[in-house]
Amino acid sequence: MDFGKERKAMRYKGIIFDLDGVICFTDKYHYLAWKALADEIGVYFDEKINNNLRGVSRMASLDIILKNSDKEYTQQEKEEMAEKKNQAYRVMLEQMTPADLSDEVKETLDALRAAGLKLAIGSSSKNAKLILNRIGLGDYFDAISDGTNITHSKPDPEVFLKAAEFLGMDPSDCLVVEDADAGIKAAVAGGFDGAGIGEAAANKDTRWRLQTFSDLTKIDGIF
Ligand code: BG6
Ligand code: MG
Repeated sequence: MDFGKERKAMRYKGIIFDLDGVICFTDKYHYLAWKALADEIGVYFDEKINNNLRGVSRMASLDIILKNSDKEYTQQEKEEMAEKKNQAYRVMLEQMTPADLSDEVKETLDALRAAGLKLAIGSSSKNAKLILNRIGLGDYFDAISDGTNITHSKPDPEVFLKAAEFLGMDPSDCLVVEDADAGIKAAVAGGFDGAGIGEAAANKDTRWRLQTFSDLTKIDGIF
């Protein structure tokens, strides 16, 4: 893990986790459901384009996909397409069980909680509560801010600002954990430090670069 130049001790009181691609790997189901829709309407779509959808709302994701289409779609057609994708995605979510929560993630969350940190979700998804229920974390977090309580999705900071508000904390007291560049941007815009995993670990604005989820326990001052 790269601790960056400053090794200043931080005293975080709360941690706000993105869901898809951080707590669980629903990002692969998003990809499969969008790919099925793109193939059906004959629009080119691949995993590289899919990476630009991380953290982005459902309708904004569809707009990014349709940039590769010659056809103009009406708002109603777009809403129908997004709904179709969501139905396919939810069928995949219904297959998830607590076995889809890794031991590493669960043990790390438990260790952070045992150290007195408050834990929240900050996700753009309107399916966040369904996913948390499926993986056995329905009642686990101290606060959930998701696609159902925001009007602007990442890179806007709204979802994280709401999560901090639900925890009763200032952004400067909270760490945001993200796998998306849009999420790190949102964290910085809201005045939060960001810990990046996966692609977001390489983001220049990421304060803590994680190779693996349990690296969170190695952050200076986290305990
Ligand atoms: C984010 C995902 O968590 O939620 C995005 O990273 C997704 O890929 C967004 O588009 C919205 O999700 P949903 O479940 O409301 O369609
Ligand atoms: Mg994500």
